[in-house]
Amino acid sequence: MRILSGIQPSGALHIGNYFGMMRPAIALQAEGEALYFIADYHALTTVRDPETLRANSRRVALDFLACGLDPERATLFRHSDVPQVTELAWILSTVAPMGLLERAHSYKDKLARGMAPTVGLFNYPVLMAADILIYDSDVVPVGKDQKQHIEMTRDLAVKINETFGQVFKLPEPRINPQTQVVPGLDGQKMSKSYGNNIDIFGDEKEARKRVMSIVTDSTPIEAPKDPEGSTIVQLYSLFATKDELANMREQFKKGGTGYGDFKKELFEKLWEYFAPMRQRRQEILRDKSYIDNVLSKGAKRANEIADQVMERVRKAVGLR
Ligand code: TYM
Repeated sequence: MRILSGIQPSGALHIGNYFGMMRPAIALQAEGEALYFIADYHALTTVRDPETLRANSRRVALDFLACGLDPERATLFRHSDVPQVTELAWILSTVAPMGLLERAHSYKDKLARGMAPTVGLFNYPVLMAADILIYDSDVVPVGKDQKQHIEMTRDLAVKINETFGQVFKLPEPRINPQTQVVPGLDGQKMSKSYGNNIDIFGDEKEARKRVMSIVTDSTPIEAPKDPEGSTIVQLYSLFATKDELANMREQFKKGGTGYGDFKKELFEKLWEYFAPMRQRRQEILRDKSYIDNVLSKGAKRANEIADQVMERVRKAVGLR
């Protein structure tokens, strides 16, 4: 089984990225050949400063490694170290129906938030399909927001197979129902672009301030509170044991405890959860060449697979 996923270096990673994709991806590295990449070509659709893009890309590598990605088992590489993927994106774009891309939720959402409708933004799902298909991927661990993109990947693979014969495998999304949409401070999906994020490796004071700013209703301290749909409870469930979670839910229903105290409990758990990863991150930072070595080894392996698949594709469509 080949497992593949990507993450955009468009800013610091948050706990939605961690529980939605990084943790499941790290668990899967024991189950097959795993390839994970830093999607810098994709990030070009939003990041316009070259130094920022370079720094963010290194930071994603550092954070992913600190969270437990094992470079002895999984391949970690930069998207742009495999430029053949842009050639495949072109080939896929020649069969991609405009209507399919026009229906993309993420594109419509970005336009609704005021982003300029560039061709790159519109074509994003085609490049993402190329990212997946160029490695003959079987399984793609992602959060729910990426589900439609993987369905589009399958549609494009089918179009190519129908037109040119059997070229591509059809990949399956792997979405964990418990963590498919991690809520942010306002209860909406956590996202850097919504400004409702809690970062994995943020500063302690800032992280505490963010947790304390989770939006709640105005139920008074002494009154019972509804744990269903509470963002505090939802986030707490990511870090707490079953008993701890049951206890918080009880305290909610009983009344007598204010939201502020629940938020403090959530912050303590969250901070403690990432403590070993913060330590590992410091260790990695001490070895100046570690990240470069991991990325160059990763690029080599990713290129081997991509070259093989591209030979098959070029032959099938008549470019060789
Ligand atoms: P990106 O960089 O926005 O997010 C990386 C991963 O984190 C997941 N995620 C979440 N999961 C649950 N709750 C949340 N609040 C949350 N926020 C983010 C995302 O679902 C994603 O899995 N297009 C992709 C990157 C990409 C890719 C690929 C992924 C490019 N090519 C090929 C898989 C395969 C993206 O923008 O993810």
